[in-house]
Amino acid sequence: MSKKLSPTFTQDWFSRSIPSWSHILTQLTKKTPNLRILEIGVFEGRSTCWLLENFCKTPESTIMAIDSFEGGIEHKSMELGGLKKQFEDNIASVGSSAQVVVRPGLSLDQLCRLVAENTKPFDFISVDASHQAADVLSDAVLAFQLLKPSGVIAFDDYIWSPMRPGTENPLLLPKSAIDAFTTIYSQKLRILPNFPLYQLYIQKH
Ligand SMILES: C[S@@+](CC[C@H](N)C(=O)[O-])C[C@H]1O[C@@H](n2cnc3c(N)ncnc32)[C@H](O)[C@@H]1O
Repeated sequence: MSKKLSPTFTQDWFSRSIPSWSHILTQLTKKTPNLRILEIGVFEGRSTCWLLENFCKTPESTIMAIDSFEGGIEHKSMELGGLKKQFEDNIASVGSSAQVVVRPGLSLDQLCRLVAENTKPFDFISVDASHQAADVLSDAVLAFQLLKPSGVIAFDDYIWSPMRPGTENPLLLPKSAIDAFTTIYSQKLRILPNFPLYQLYIQKH
């Protein structure tokens, strides 16, 4: 399908990750040219469009996109009524709708379903949905279950906090969940070194 329109975005929470994602995905495509990608939290599809245009150039490369399309608690002030349609329009505008499977709903529900369906494992998983620690922890554990050996999980917003320094509640932030997960799973994974700490990347043994 030819390109019709350019995708439209109101937010950019992704561009800072492009150098790290480019490096990691280039390594992964050396072994697996047709990547199977799972994105947990897609919002308007900025990262999905970038993946499609840069690392999913063959029709066999696919992306599964999970999102409630309702925003997280940090998005309360945003008008998000048309978010799912905007995501779908953006994907269509890069001409790649057929490569993307959308699973609307809460990540906990959708990930449990994927595990129960014995879904073929993924090469690369992005965890960027709810930033509440309990949600990040269940997303991490279930994503790990769905990851291929040597596959990579990207945790966004590892050191994100909207609170004043010294007043942070760790239960409302991703870091405490990601630290608990990487500690408990330490014999099953390695943390990829030398990336900016705004994201944390792990590789499954
Ligand atoms: C930070 S945005 C994702 C940004 C996107 N990865 C990008 O780079 O543009 C978080 C997204 O997660 C979704 N979300 C929040 N909590 C969720 C949950 N519990 N289950 C599924 N999606 C959720 C929101 O609707 C929002 O679209």
